[in-house]
Amino acid sequence: MKKALFSTILTVSLASSMNLANADEISTNVAESREAVKTLFTKLKGALVTGMKTGGPTAAIAACSQQAQPITDSVSDRRTGLEIRRISLRLRNPDNAADAWEIKILQQFEARSAAGESLATMEHHEVVKQKGGEKLFRYMKAIPASKPCMVCHGELIATDVLQKIRAVYPLDQATGFKPGDLRGAFSVTKALN
Ligand code: HEC
Repeated sequence: MKKALFSTILTVSLASSMNLANADEISTNVAESREAVKTLFTKLKGALVTGMKTGGPTAAIAACSQQAQPITDSVSDRRTGLEIRRISLRLRNPDNAADAWEIKILQQFEARSAAGESLATMEHHEVVKQKGGEKLFRYMKAIPASKPCMVCHGELIATDVLQKIRAVYPLDQATGFKPGDLRGAFSVTKALN
């Protein structure tokens, strides 16, 4: 009796998880998410490089603090309902705080990286059922720290740069990274029908 009940529960839960969304819809959403990440990465890099060329790291910090959020919002697509953000476990901008699901996936990324997987290609996607019953497609792509990031996120930061960071972000936690560390992730969310 117990065994039969258990196998019924198992069958029902397996069937419902398979029905969460169809495979075509998922692969379209994964492709759209990768595209959005690529677009956002290119735009942010452009703003950073322009800022650095204009007046070095302190000018680039000013540029990033004013432009990073509007640029990020501009890549979200109201037409398709796709939303993209940048998140981290060690924050500079409090607007980029991760939610509980994102924290869990970032921790999994850390573990996957520690087990030898490359951060350069690391991603995760999942259909998450909300409390109200709606289904969300969620996608995350790791952001590795690399050498050029060290000027503003590394272990040894020039005094004027650090002063500028502290002035804009008094609660900054986003220093002390080494090249190859997990800096954060791009996170995409889209409501499914
Ligand atoms: C000129 C200084 C500067 C450099 C260089 C820099 N950043 Fe940042 N970074 C910032 C500032 C300022 C913010 C906060 C503004 C924002 O982006 O929302 C930030 C925020 C971030 C965030 C969002 C999470 C958070 O903590 O708010 C990520 C992810 C990030 N940077 C990754 C990188 C990576 C990866 C590189 C190297 C490719 C890099 N940064 C290089 C200044 C810099």
